[in-house]
Amino acid sequence: MGSEIRNVGIIGAGQMGCGIAQVAAVAGHRVHLYDLSAERVEAALATVNGNLARQVVSGKITDDARSAALALITGTSDVNDLASSDLVIEAATEDEAVKRKIYATVCPILKPEAILATNTSSLSITRLASATDRPERFMGIHFMNPVPVMKLVELVRGIATDEPTFVAAKQFVSTLDKVITVAEDFPAFIVNRILLPMINEAIYTLYEGVGSVDAIDTAMKLGANHPMGPLQLADFIGLDTCLSIMQVLHEGLSDSKYRPCPLLVKYVEAGWLGRKSGRGFYDYR
Ligand code: CAA
Repeated sequence: MGSEIRNVGIIGAGQMGCGIAQVAAVAGHRVHLYDLSAERVEAALATVNGNLARQVVSGKITDDARSAALALITGTSDVNDLASSDLVIEAATEDEAVKRKIYATVCPILKPEAILATNTSSLSITRLASATDRPERFMGIHFMNPVPVMKLVELVRGIATDEPTFVAAKQFVSTLDKVITVAEDFPAFIVNRILLPMINEAIYTLYEGVGSVDAIDTAMKLGANHPMGPLQLADFIGLDTCLSIMQVLHEGLSDSKYRPCPLLVKYVEAGWLGRKSGRGFYDYR
């Protein structure tokens, strides 16, 4: 069944959707990258173009492979273009109401046998599945950021996900040269259950004046061999996304150890969302 996944629809042309479109096209899948905003789609295609050009320069892919991948991606702001998809991956903002609205719009357009997956980084797959017309053909396919670089993909079944759907998703992801881990459907799955409390603790460390931004990031880069310091990584992920994952952990596990740091809340309230907004723990303007 996995080999039948040829046409992939991606909903949301942000940093995750854009990266998923890139790796799917490089693997030879036909991709429709959909977003409500035509400007976002344009920007995403330019980003994919730039990333692929960099990979040609660094010798990861040939120029022919770059052109072939680009030719496989169609950007669109018309949701009806997802009708031919065998698999649709929703990579919209981490907001359950937004995702539910998307499913209500998209489900009637999809082929009955099409699989719908979410790239959610923390929300309940079972609950999201209940907002679709196909809970048995719905599951989590969670990519890491930056998608073209990070090897891992988490697969998460909801309570109703059927075996053929899981096998098809597994086969699809294995065509992308990624490594799979399977997580159960609990808040934030595996990676974010562990990573986000670490980032939140780094923000508490700053909030309590234990160290400066630079001291905290240097400590973790050179003292724990992390490729990025936790505050730099928080900016990279997006502080709104970090906050929403901490809220899901806090509410879902009812444990005060997951309380989002008030400084994280304040930054998000200020619109300081990290790299994407130009300001977070660092200034990108
Ligand atoms: N998109 C695509 N490619 C990118 C990229 C991006 N945003 N950023 C870097 N790259 C590529 C570069 O082009 C380069 O490729 P080549 O080897 O082909 O030249 C390669 O990655 C290395 O980049 P750099 O040399 O510029 O920089 P670096 O060595 O400092 O690595 C990094 C950058 C890979 C991002 C590294 O800092 C890193 O691994 N950081 C941690 C990332 C991480 O933890 N991600 C998980 C976030 S959590 C998550 O995603 C889950 C969630 O749901 C929130």
